Amino acid sequence: MKRAVAEAPAKAIVTGEHFVVDGSWALAVALPRKVRAEVTEADELRVDSEAGGGSGSPRPGPVLEVVRAMSSEFSFAPSFRVSIRSQVPAGSGLGSSAATSVAVAAAVARYNSVDLGASELARMSMVGEKRVHRTPSGVDSAVCAAGGAVLFRRGAEPRTVHLPGARSLVIAFSGQRRATRRQISKVSRLRDAFPHMFEGLAAAVGAMSLEASERLASGDMETLGRILNLNHAVLSSIGVSNQRLDSMVDASLSMGAFGAKLTGAGGGGCILVAAPEGKEKSIVSGLRGRGFEAFLAEIPVEGVKSWLES
Ligand code: MEV
Repeated sequence: MKRAVAEAPAKAIVTGEHFVVDGSWALAVALPRKVRAEVTEADELRVDSEAGGGSGSPRPGPVLEVVRAMSSEFSFAPSFRVSIRSQVPAGSGLGSSAATSVAVAAAVARYNSVDLGASELARMSMVGEKRVHRTPSGVDSAVCAAGGAVLFRRGAEPRTVHLPGARSLVIAFSGQRRATRRQISKVSRLRDAFPHMFEGLAAAVGAMSLEASERLASGDMETLGRILNLNHAVLSSIGVSNQRLDSMVDASLSMGAFGAKLTGAGGGGCILVAAPEGKEKSIVSGLRGRGFEAFLAEIPVEGVKSWLES
């Protein structure tokens, strides 16, 4: 039986979340956690999803929309079964929905012999992302498709940030899941109330992303950490942090991190930490000791890939 398989990585936003929705630069990296999609023969379209470690299954609705959009654009019958297995906790800010729709788009394209590159797969994934988040910037789909580190601005070609060597970042999950869509509307209400002030913050955050991409590329984790602290302060000021995220950030700094911030939409989800070389593992253990699920992410991680099995 013909089987097409694809795997797409999770992502973390290093700097620029929320402001990227309105056109600021964001820096994002692919993470070593995956969503796997398999497409096999069936009489009609079926989607089954399963999440590893009780992390919340990807929702089938957005996936069905991606498949239907592809079937109409590339003229194939949507009659197959799509099975999804995810290692990315849903609602954690690590791009579960984008990684799912990118993996599904890649597996469906492979199954139907449609040759699509990373930017086309990101475009197809956006059909699902719009259903989930309504006004996604596209940064999550772009980095889950391309992998590595990506400097992203709405409406421009994503720029690959070349990392000459491996870098380590610490990621820790607050255990609080939240809906990205609700966080985005909260920020847009603030932007509508204070457009001029918001514009100033957006310009500052865009500059942080450009600087952060250079520091990540050169391995200057200390300055990167300082930028993360600044970005976290801005995110707190627009109301997307909370006590638990702030205490995780403070705990990381007290354990010797250079810097830390919430990553993704906030209101829960994860933090991202930059630490001195050799200290990352003790920060992971320290955060685990405080009851948080933490892991060390070695980057760069490759983007979506797909293949046929028989
Ligand atoms: C979500 O990972 C990042 C946000 O900036 C939303 C988006 O860019 O679509 C909050």
